[in-house]
Order: sequence, then C-alpha cells, then structure tokens
Amino acid sequence: MPQIIDGKEISTAIKEELKIEVGKLKEENIYICLAVIQVGNDPASSVYVGNKKKACAYIGIDSLSFELPEETTQEELLKLIRDLNEKKEVNGILVQLPLPKHIDEDEVIRAIDPKKDVDGFHPQSVGALCIGQHGFVSCTPAGIIQLLKRSGIEIAGKECVVIGRSNIVGKPMALLLLRENGTVTVAHSRTKDLKEVSKRADILVVAVGRPKMITKEYLKEGAVVIDVGIHRNENNKLCGDVDYDDVAPVCSAITPVPGGVGPMTIAMLMHNCVEAGKAQ
Ligand code: GUN
Repeated sequence: MPQIIDGKEISTAIKEELKIEVGKLKEENIYICLAVIQVGNDPASSVYVGNKKKACAYIGIDSLSFELPEETTQEELLKLIRDLNEKKEVNGILVQLPLPKHIDEDEVIRAIDPKKDVDGFHPQSVGALCIGQHGFVSCTPAGIIQLLKRSGIEIAGKECVVIGRSNIVGKPMALLLLRENGTVTVAHSRTKDLKEVSKRADILVVAVGRPKMITKEYLKEGAVVIDVGIHRNENNKLCGDVDYDDVAPVCSAITPVPGGVGPMTIAMLMHNCVEAGKAQ
C-alpha cells in the first residue's frame, strides 16, 4: 500500500512551529494581526472564514473580522481595504472569495497592499513568483510543496504534471514545482489525450474540480498523487478529484480527502501572516 501523506499531522507541526515563533515575537512586542473580510453569507465561505479565525487564535495571531452584507458596493469594499492598507497594526488582509457577482474580484485583489497580500493573489505577488523574486505565495500550492518536502519526496528532476490551470492552484503550483527544479507540464480541459500526459507524471497534482475523475488509467505505477479536490458524494461523504480506492494500490504516495491538502491551506496562510508581521 502507498505512503499516506498526512496533511493533518504536517499542518499541525507547522502550526506548532508558528505558535512558538509568534510567542517569541510577542516577547519583542511584535504582535501580528490578520483582517478577514467576508461579503455575504455563503455557508461554505463562513466555514472557511471561521476556521481561519480559529487558527489565528490558536497560534496567537489577532484577527479582525469584517462581515459585510451581500449588498455591499464595490466602492465600500475598496474603501475598507484602503483603510486597512493604511493601518499599521494590520499585517495581513484576506478577502474571502468568491465575492457577490456585482463586485469585480480582480479589482478588489489589486486594491490590497502587496505587503499585506497574505493570500498571494495580487498580480505583484504572482509576478514575483513567476520571476523567482520574494513575495507571498498562494497558500494551497505552497502547502503542497510542504507536504512533499516534509514527506521526504524529492521534486528536483522529477516529471511533474499539474491537471488544472486556475490562478489560485494550477498556475502557482506549476511555478512552484518549477522553482523546485521539477520538469513541469500543465494539463487542462482542452488537453488532448489527458491519460497519456498524466501517465508521464512522477508527481501528479490534480485540481480539476470533478469528483473521482482520476482513476488508475491516468497513472504511472509508483507515481505520487496529490489531490486538491473536495466534494460531497451521493452518500454525503467527502471525496476528492482522485478515485482513491482505485488509485491507491498503484501509487507510491497519496494525499487522502479529507486530511490531505485541505488542512495545509490554513497552515500556510498562518505562515504568510507571520512573514508579513516580521517584514513590516
Ligand atoms: N476561497 C476559496 N479558497 C480561498 C482562499 O484560499 N483564499 C480566499 N481569500 N478565498 C478563498
């Protein structure tokens, strides 16, 4: 059976390290504060935002919560972000996505001061990642690199295939694997013969958003499989983009859903908040 990459355990280890670091910073009178903005009350977003605030409290990061009504205008949201940009005591600003349809997400992301862009979504952060300069990195792909490294999986020289090309996961994932000296292919919905492409992978990262799409026919024997998807199946059970039971006997290591990639996103957000606090 494959190595199970335990995201819960690895994220807990990272949070423990950060808790110690935040404690030491407090002794130097450095306090870290994250502002969390949610517009509307999408239930999934409320759960994510709640988990982020809980993680802050656990690590010793202050969090400011802004729960704005669905009908908030773009101008009102931009004004709040500009005010938070100016506030010295706020180190990080997180606007939970998706935003209501009448608000232009790109403009909102661009309004966040890149020094406080702990989500790593600002074009300046993405550009810095692209050319190997310092900047915040999107939390889910950064978490996946930590999962690989802390599980003793070498990236340099490996064939890495990323299925999915979103701005939040697929694209930054490809750039990070490249930074780690992987040989990277990005596949997507228009890729011809996806099975042949994904069979090249020593490390396969799947972020397609379709439950259990990836079966053993997509895999080379011994591949490492990272599953970014999270869905509820017909029995209300959580599952990923990968058909775990089908794939597990063929691969060398795999992330479960839940308990794989998911917990890493918040751990890396906390990491980015601590970095923001130290840099400011
Ligand atoms: N919505 C889903 N994932 C994320 C995330 O990582 N950050 C933000 N801000 N919104 C999200």
